[in-house]
Amino acid sequence: MSVLPPENTMPPTTGLSRRFSVAPMMDWTTPHFRYLARLLSRHTLLYTEMVTTGALIHGDTQRFLRHDPAEYPLALQLGGSHAGELAQCAKLAEQFGFDEVNLNVGCPSDRVQNNMIGACLMGHPDKVAEGVSAMIDATNLPVTVKHRIGINGRESWDELCEFVEKVAAAGCRTFIVHARIAILEGLSPKENRDIPPLKYDWVYRLKQTYPDLEIIINGGIKTFDECHDHLQHTDGVMLGREAYHNPWLLAGVDPEFFGERAPVQTRHEALRAMIPFIESELERGVFLTHISRHLLGLFHGIPGGRQFRRYISENAHKRGAGIEVIQAALEKVREHENPAIAEA
Ligand SMILES: Cc1cc2nc3c(=O)[nH]c(=O)nc-3n(C[C@H](O)[C@H](O)[C@H](O)COP(=O)(O)O)c2cc1C
Repeated sequence: MSVLPPENTMPPTTGLSRRFSVAPMMDWTTPHFRYLARLLSRHTLLYTEMVTTGALIHGDTQRFLRHDPAEYPLALQLGGSHAGELAQCAKLAEQFGFDEVNLNVGCPSDRVQNNMIGACLMGHPDKVAEGVSAMIDATNLPVTVKHRIGINGRESWDELCEFVEKVAAAGCRTFIVHARIAILEGLSPKENRDIPPLKYDWVYRLKQTYPDLEIIINGGIKTFDECHDHLQHTDGVMLGREAYHNPWLLAGVDPEFFGERAPVQTRHEALRAMIPFIESELERGVFLTHISRHLLGLFHGIPGGRQFRRYISENAHKRGAGIEVIQAALEKVREHENPAIAEA
């Protein structure tokens, strides 16, 4: 994995598509998970975990922006609301080679609310518009916003439209909409991803009302059939938890949504392709368990998958654990082609 210093600017990938993306997820969409995801699909747009503007500006910038060029197309998600800081971070995103910069207006955690980050910003559309406009002025990258359909106390259709219209007037063309409100007091972030009911029809209606905007739908999507249904009404689908827990799903994305053969035909092939990367990470001093925890879902639902997971869980944390743990875990599962992919 390389750190790209600002002077080593990579051109943004051309032809980026938001038809299918994996959601930003703290602690989950780490560079290690993203590397695996990219081995499974060339076209899926990947998002980083959220990084706050404060962390990027005052913390270890190189560490927070670290990624491998193999992960492209890759969007950086920012958390923040101060226009000047957002602009500064959008510039960094471009210098470090990201393909898109996204603003988080969906995260309901208390910790971020105190700093005017995340879903609470849905109550401050002018502030979001100001931030988006500053980001657009600062970079050539596409600037996108990920938000909810509302927050408690501000959950009417008209308020959602006011938000979208103000942010669109600031220059944002792409809205990634988690199709439920966030309840800012009383629910944990996890509950806020399950309890408020999904209202997909609101997202469809946004697309009908603003046909010139790119509207991506997110929340509770699990299968390709569901994706196809949503794509009848919106421009793209974003999957979070299902893509993480069952990453092999991503191997079907290129055939299913882009008319291309999958980059790998078996789970074993994907994991074997990851070995040189894992080795170079281990050499850098990364603990195996920090990498292997993102591989646990790869054999989800197939015979031997449980043994694979158990072997890694029991061995990857041991002192000095290395690549042999992954190789031994692989031997617990029989290799067989996924017919759906082999035929594509
Ligand atoms: C562990 C976890 C961490 C998350 N972190 C973020 C984040 O950093 N930024 C963000 O916009 N959303 C975050 N989310 C929300 C997801 O991006 C997504 O909107 C949500 O999970 C709904 O999609 P899904 O039902 O497909 O998972 C997170 C979700 C999970 C499960």
